[in-house]
Order: sequence, then structure tokens, then C-alpha cells
Amino acid sequence: MADNNADWWRTGVVYQVYVRSFADGNGDGTGDIAGLRQRLGYLSELGVDALWMNPWYASPLRDGGYDVADYRRIDERFGTTEEVEALIAEAHDLGIRIIADLVPNHTSSDHVWFQEALASEPGSAARDRYMFRKGKGENGELPPTNWTAVFGGSAWEPVGDGWWYLHLFDVSQPDLNWENEEVRAEFDSVFRFWLDRGVDGFRIDVAHGMIKDPAFPDVEKVGAILESETTEDHPFWDRDGVHEINRRWRAILNEYEDRMMVAEAWVAPHRLPLYLRSDEYHQSFNFDLLGAEWGAGEFTEVIGTAVTAAEEIGAASTWVLSNHDVMRHATRYGLAKGSAWRKWPVTGPVDALDVEVGQRRARAACLITMSLPGSTYVYQGEELGLPEVWDLPEDVLDDPTWERSGHAEKGRDGCRVPIPWTESGPSFGFGDAEPWLPQPEMFGSLSAQAQEGDSGSMLGLYRAAIAARKEHFVDDQSCEMLDLGADVLSYRRGAIQVVVNMGTSSIALPDGEVLLMSIAPDSTSAGPGQLAVDCAAWVIALS
Ligand code: NOJ
Repeated sequence: MADNNADWWRTGVVYQVYVRSFADGNGDGTGDIAGLRQRLGYLSELGVDALWMNPWYASPLRDGGYDVADYRRIDERFGTTEEVEALIAEAHDLGIRIIADLVPNHTSSDHVWFQEALASEPGSAARDRYMFRKGKGENGELPPTNWTAVFGGSAWEPVGDGWWYLHLFDVSQPDLNWENEEVRAEFDSVFRFWLDRGVDGFRIDVAHGMIKDPAFPDVEKVGAILESETTEDHPFWDRDGVHEINRRWRAILNEYEDRMMVAEAWVAPHRLPLYLRSDEYHQSFNFDLLGAEWGAGEFTEVIGTAVTAAEEIGAASTWVLSNHDVMRHATRYGLAKGSAWRKWPVTGPVDALDVEVGQRRARAACLITMSLPGSTYVYQGEELGLPEVWDLPEDVLDDPTWERSGHAEKGRDGCRVPIPWTESGPSFGFGDAEPWLPQPEMFGSLSAQAQEGDSGSMLGLYRAAIAARKEHFVDDQSCEMLDLGADVLSYRRGAIQVVVNMGTSSIALPDGEVLLMSIAPDSTSAGPGQLAVDCAAWVIALS
């Protein structure tokens, strides 16, 4: 690595690469490692410190790769282990770290272990690696519990002999039995396999789900599709037993230099610090900001709480506005207040979406996350201002949510549409072939090429904000929340005051030199000394 900073993850800008949709180097319509390697220069210019790679392992891709068939092999559509090693070396040469995504809660049903389990008797060692239970009813014809899968439908699937296996997600994602020592040992080895190949860290999928209540009680409240319940003593989310596993992994990471792990843990805010104890995770995503309604009250509350909690436990906050599982924030912020954006309606927002407001707020949001203490995750394409593609035709939908919800919810494909690199040409420069999800016409005008050289573009704003963040917001991690009234989010970071107008009329900017403003130069400005609605500014206070 170019720099040697053991705590790089505390303040880094991490760029999430959904490899399937980033860049297609071999012309088969699916993004791959070759395509990513060709675009490393773009990422270096953007100024990111690390890449979080969504799962790259061999997989039938029934859940976009979160259904792993072989944890030690790269899916052939994405490339080879040698290409990944080359990617790691090239990224390191540019000072960019690589975070792999590890999926320990479940395997693919194509995994050799699961195939072996299906071919084995109830009670066998092969079945004990998964969560098999006898069904209820005279002949086991009823599911063992009333648990529902995150993608909809029962969380249990019968295997024909009166026994059922648990899948908290898709039917093709059987849950592993983390009480089984062989499972634990296997993951120790998988960790080492990738650490030995040079990955700098891991994003751990469903970090709050591995341990289940051995009594297998029914749940009182059936979970909503694509949401985790955060009730106390839930039979499968956030059980205390996961912490022992966290500690085991941390001990392995500690054998290597400068490595980290970040938890995807959808847990109640007061339980999150438990994952961040010094012998557990380095970081856990803060999804509270992602879930917050646009408005100064809610943003101030979420940010203030997270900053205080991080200071108390000595951890770094980890900010996220978008990822491959939620509606892109440029669209989310353009919806009417109170819109149920998690329940992505089949017909799309049609009249309810204000595209311009969404873009304006997304620009302001960039200046929020880039100026907060801790680290920030950027989901590929948010730096281009890509919106959710809400009108994908039904026959291309790939997210298991679509089928498992009985076509009631379209699911997450709309935020996974391949990136437009050029203004025109086949798949807007994504690759030579028809992309695995179709891109809308307007993607050309949002392409990297269309924004290149335009400092007023979203890309220009991200580049400028990341560069200025490095200069002003990394060394001093203090953050003081300021009260500028009910419509304004404001905080001080060292010499700089961050101000965001989340109300309905212009406000006066504080005195000082404006370092960066979210509003594009050609937008209607609020006039000198003013900050327009839905805009943010970084102001260097007069000394
Ligand atoms: C969370 C991942 O982000 C999501 O994409 C996936 O479907 C589930 N975990 C199941 O692995």
C-alpha cells in the first residue's frame, strides 16, 4: 500500500462496487473484474480510499451473488482468482483498499454441503451443517414455525421426508447452523484464504442473523418484506450468541496487519454498540440516516445520536445513503413526505416524484455525508446522481422479492441498473453487449462522460467534496451540533460550519468564506449571502 495507516477505515470514503453492474470488460452483458480494472483510474480520480466489492464468488446469482456456491472461487462471469489478485495489486498501487463481502448466514442451495445434506438422512452430520427441523402435523406436513423469509413467504422449505430447512432469505439460500463447529472452522479458513490474497477487510452480510433461538418459538409479529425486526429477544435477529462469532473473526483479522471488518447489522440503535466492542467489529453501517425522512429534525437527531454514541465507545460512525438494497436516494428524496419507499410499488411513483427536488437534495446530502466524522460509503452511480429505475419491465426483474412477494413488490433491481459511462453507444459504455438489466434513455445524459469536466455536475461536486474532506475533515474528528432553528441542519467541524437548509424558504448563510456549496451554478440561486431551499454549504468561519 502507498500509505500505511492502520486506522484508514475510520475516516475513509468507501465506494461500493456492485460488480455485476459496474463495467463489463468481456462483453457478455454482465459487469466483471476486467471492467473494474479498466475503471480504476476513474475511482482514483474520484478520490476514494477503498472499494467494497459485492460478492464475487461462484454463485447461481439467484440473489445477486448473496447465494454463494463456493467461497474460494470467483464466479466465472466475473473473472478469476488471478484477476482478483491483479485487481488488489493495482488498487493498492493507487492507494485504494479492497473490502470483500462475506456471506456467513447462508450458502447457496448449489453449495456442495447443501447438496450433500439433501442426499443424507435426517440427523446426519451433513444435515447438521444447516438448520433442518421436523415439520409440525402428523406427517411433518406443516412448517416448524410461522417464521417468514425476508423476501416473502415461509422461511421453511420441505424436503419431502417430513423435514424442512430454514432459509431466512430466498428458498435457494439455506441458513447454516452456526452452533456446528465445522461451520465455524470452515469460515475461519475462508477468512484466511482471502486475507492471504491481500483483501484489506470484509463487509459481513447479515451479521445479526447467524444464531437462532434453539427453542424455535413462533414469532408474534411477522416481519415485513425486506425488513429486519428489531424487537427484543427475537428468535433469529440480533441474538447474543453472534458476539462470540464476531470475536473469533476479529482474532483472525488481528493476526494480519491493517485489516478491518464492517457489519451489516440491522439492529435497534441501543444494541449496535455491542457489535463495536474492541474485540468485535471495527465498524457497523449506520442505516438510521439512510432511513431518515428529509428534514432538519430527523437528520439532526440521527446525526447527533450517532456522533455521541461513536464518541462514547471510541468507534467511528459509518454513513450510508444508498446501497444495492434500497431505492436510490436521488429518487427517495424526491418523493412526497411519508412515502413508503421500502414498499416499492409495481407501478412506480408516477405523479408523486419530483425529480428536480430529488437531485437537489442528493447534492446537499453529498455535502452532509462528506463532512461528517467517521467513514462514508458511496454506492456506485450516486456520484453521477443516478435515479432509481422504477419502470423496468416485469420480464427482466431478477430480485427474488418479485416472485416471493407474489408480484406485489418489484424489489431491488431498480438501483442495480448498469452504470452509464458514455453519452451514447451500446449500453452507454458499460460494455459491448446488451446489459443484463436495460438502462433508460436518460442514462446517457447522466453518464460519467457527460459530466466529465463540468465542475457544476454531480460528479464534479463529489470530486470536490472528497478532496476538500481530506483536507479539512479527517484529522480532527470532533463534531459539534448547532441549533439554527427547526428547518436547518448545522454542525461545526473544526474551522468549518456545515449548514443545510431543509425548510421551505431561503435562509441567510453564516458569515465567512463559502468553501463549497451544493447548488449547481446554473440553478436558481437564492441571491448573495443566502442559502436556497434543499441546499448545503460548507462555510469557513471568520476568525
Ligand atoms: C443483505 C444483502 O445486502 C442483500 O442484498 C442480500 O439479499 C441479503 N443480505 C441476503 O444475503
